[in-house]
Amino acid sequence: MRMTLLKVVRMFSFKRVVSLGGIIVPPRTSLSVNNFSVCQCLPKRHSPYSSMDSERYSSLVKSVMSSRVSSQTPETLNAEDGHIYGPVVKAPTPSSGPKMRVPKTLHPFVQCRDTLEAEEPESGPPARIALNRGQGRSPVPSVTRILQQTLSPDQVFYLERWKRRMIAELGEEGFKEYSRNLFRQGKLFHSAVEDILTSGASREDKTPSERDEYPPEVQGYLQSISHVLADVSAVRAVESTVQHSTLNYLGIADCVARYRGVLCVIDWKTSEKPKPFLGNTYDNPIQVAAYAGALNNDSNYKYQVENGLVVVAYKDGSRAHAHQLNSELMLEFWKSWLVRLEDFAEQK
Ligand SMILES: *[C@@H]1O[C@H](CO)[C@@H](O)[C@H](O)[C@H]1NC(C)=O
Ligand SMILES: *[C@@H]1O[C@H](CO)[C@@H](O)[C@H](O)[C@H]1NC(C)=O
Repeated sequence: MRMTLLKVVRMFSFKRVVSLGGIIVPPRTSLSVNNFSVCQCLPKRHSPYSSMDSERYSSLVKSVMSSRVSSQTPETLNAEDGHIYGPVVKAPTPSSGPKMRVPKTLHPFVQCRDTLEAEEPESGPPARIALNRGQGRSPVPSVTRILQQTLSPDQVFYLERWKRRMIAELGEEGFKEYSRNLFRQGKLFHSAVEDILTSGASREDKTPSERDEYPPEVQGYLQSISHVLADVSAVRAVESTVQHSTLNYLGIADCVARYRGVLCVIDWKTSEKPKPFLGNTYDNPIQVAAYAGALNNDSNYKYQVENGLVVVAYKDGSRAHAHQLNSELMLEFWKSWLVRLEDFAEQK
């Protein structure tokens, strides 16, 4: 009895969180199945949700999880967050955490390129390498597409449930309208940030009235991130395409710059509810690690980036959360990304 109870308690706490550098992070693998031995050996077809077609959800997932849109806007998600990630608890020591899936091949995150210019000058306008897709769909899949198509069954389940509730509340048309609005706001916010970052040094001189040039919908978000922007310097790339030639994926990084002196891949997210912990940001850290790994393997960039930053901006103007990802954390998320890439390749 004692043993059984202990086992249950251990399983319960292990499946919730794993601590990485003191930050609580939900391991993706723990989202799939409660029983880890099942998690390791159960073939995919035994999953109760395996019949779900991920393409069917792609537009929903895009509207909820794409880099342009808040992944967690409605209040109805509150309770579900708790369900997915568990309560915020003091994390167990890393060694007692669940066995995270490890990639079959550990591709390097950083490259030792002879051609690297150690001291590349940081002045000059930021790079903005356009996405060069041919006619139709590029054969190189994007980071967001790969993440969407490799959601765990639990992630798909909760998204579907959230969508059903939203439709019950807003109606089909109302929900479409809501998704369109989120998408539009995210886009406007990103263009405004891009404009501020590329206008360089002058941005600190911008008076509130100069900020009025941006649409009213983004004023709150800009207010929210103003303290983060004040710590951003040496902007090297904005909305720039990064591509990993060996691993065959690409993405558009929001920003590469120094944050408090540390060179980072920065991702701007919008949210209507607080995300005070990195663990609240779903797959965002994996996305940032994927972009950094691609940049490090992309000969268009003559430097390496080992750190990341996920900024969560709030519409009501309240202080944005800036979640820093140091190089150790980035390496962990890089491994998670490699697992997702392997899952994606297996689907084909
Ligand atoms: C976990 O799964 C294994 C085999 O799949 C089973 O033997 C074991 O009893 C399960 N444990 C629990 C706590 O459900
Ligand atoms: C990209 O990564 C591969 C190994 O994964 C390496 O052989 C190649 O040199 C890298 N290319 C660049 C430009 O860093």
